[in-house]
Amino acid sequence: MPMSEENHAAVAVTGVTGALGSRIAARLALHGVPQLLVGRSPDRMSDLPGAQRRGPAAYDDAPAMRKALEGASTLILVSGYRTGRRLEEHATAIEAATAVGVERVLYVSLVGASPVATYLNARDQWTTEQFLAGSGIRHTVLRAGWYSSTPAALADEDFVVRGPAHTGRAAFVTHEDITRVITAVALDDGPRSEHDGAVLEITGPEALTLDEAVTRIAAATGRPYRFQTETLEEAFARRWRRGVTGEQIETWISWFQAIDRGEVSTVTDVVPRLTGSPATPISDAAWWPEPTTARGVR
Ligand SMILES: NC(=O)c1ccc[n+]([C@@H]2O[C@H](COP(=O)([O-])OP(=O)(O)OC[C@H]3O[C@@H](n4cnc5c(N)ncnc54)[C@H](OP(=O)(O)O)[C@@H]3O)[C@@H](O)[C@H]2O)c1
Repeated sequence: MPMSEENHAAVAVTGVTGALGSRIAARLALHGVPQLLVGRSPDRMSDLPGAQRRGPAAYDDAPAMRKALEGASTLILVSGYRTGRRLEEHATAIEAATAVGVERVLYVSLVGASPVATYLNARDQWTTEQFLAGSGIRHTVLRAGWYSSTPAALADEDFVVRGPAHTGRAAFVTHEDITRVITAVALDDGPRSEHDGAVLEITGPEALTLDEAVTRIAAATGRPYRFQTETLEEAFARRWRRGVTGEQIETWISWFQAIDRGEVSTVTDVVPRLTGSPATPISDAAWWPEPTTARGVR
């Protein structure tokens, strides 16, 4: 049951210097929610009404996280990077929250999170989900779908997106739709919520092949994006020549393979059910990154 806008207790939001956390914080500010913006670089955080900047606090710095989270009742924990210590980082942040009396954690995970996920980034998202489930803290897992913007960020300077995928599909979703769902769950801040213990998979309205997705991005932007399938060998060799690290090559190839294996094609009703409006088609996405700006593509 949503409380009135004046009655919200403080919500701590992490990842606010990033694409998703910044949008979540901006939307919560629009709703008049008092916030604690938590991160490693408070000087890079936006100035938002009703928000205090807290930190510097990295997820694995327990004392700094405890100090930064003091006074929050809900923590929106945006997942960090695949450092090889992601579970330790997230677990430390969650334990710090519990230690200072945070009552609820909304964890921003990834669709397809599983110990055997093809996409390597989805594996340690699953470990944090398990940690939360065993922690006893009230929580909701929000599995963000794959961003509509990513194919544009993967394109090379000639607007060509290349990868070892063929006919597989992905239900790409916009940052704004993910944000609207997370905000709706955060605003549902009574003593109990139907979302307690839930795992919500936030997807776009349709599952597209990469060829379809990229063709729509081209039409939406007026730029000559196109998709070109490459073999696994070509995929490795081309990235290696560009100076991409072995770990990033493996991660990006697993992104394409997960699409081909049908692991990210499920379309859910989470966006319309929680926000009251249909999920946004890829062609209506409000923001397109520049080519070669995805993490670790060069
Ligand atoms: N759904 C998708 O398609 C998709 C795509 C890419 C990534 N992701 C995942 O979703 C998360 C959020 O996505 P995004 O697009 O907002 O990524 P982003 O723009 O790279 O932002 C990540 C945010 O997390 C913060 N962060 C990372 N590690 C941290 C740590 N150890 N301690 C404290 N803060 C930390 C970063 O802070 P700094 O500014 O200090 O680095 C930044 O604010 C990513 O971190 C990643 O796990 C999902």
